[in-house]
Amino acid sequence: MAGFPSGVGVVTTFAGDGSPRGMTCTSLCSVSLDPPVLLVCLGTGSHTLKAVRESGSFAVNLLHAHGRPAAELFASGAPDRFDRVAWRAGAGDAGPHLTEDAHIIADCSVVGDQVVGDHAVLLGEVRAAVPVRRERPLLYGLRRFSVWPHPVDAARPVRDAVG
Ligand SMILES: Cc1cc2nc3c(=O)[nH]c(=O)nc-3n(C[C@H](O)[C@H](O)[C@H](O)COP(=O)(O)O)c2cc1C
Repeated sequence: MAGFPSGVGVVTTFAGDGSPRGMTCTSLCSVSLDPPVLLVCLGTGSHTLKAVRESGSFAVNLLHAHGRPAAELFASGAPDRFDRVAWRAGAGDAGPHLTEDAHIIADCSVVGDQVVGDHAVLLGEVRAAVPVRRERPLLYGLRRFSVWPHPVDAARPVRDAVG
């Protein structure tokens, strides 16, 4: 799958004690349009997965071209990762919103959880999609980060970015 480049997300949630959790995730894709459902695959040993199961919700922060340091931070296991990025709780409280690093954020409720081998496939119904910045997406493939090579259409209203 290294030869299948994708966008880069940071899946976030709140643990039972209210503390933020989050991890970099590229096993991420759309599933259904009506209702809007996406899926993420999180390792069964992941601290973020444990917290998602407690809360029943998560946010998917899709990173933009300048979000690579956040992608690396949220893959590092650093315990202080949320002290090193700008974030706030979204209106839906699904999970922390990375306000400087995401170009769009989806707040999701867990509607499916299937363990496959060493990962859990979580289905998330999208409750809200929050456009943040009009920026080119961050990409990951062949074990390297890259950036979508074309400019984002400046004439396109940010609101349309949801559809
Ligand atoms: C580019 C990239 C993509 C990743 N994608 C995934 C993924 O889709 N699923 C996963 O379980 N781990 C993925 N990881 C690894 C996790 O981000 C990493 O194990 C993280 O530290 C887990 O944090 P946690 O245990 O606090 O939840 C990825 C790492 C990188 C660098």
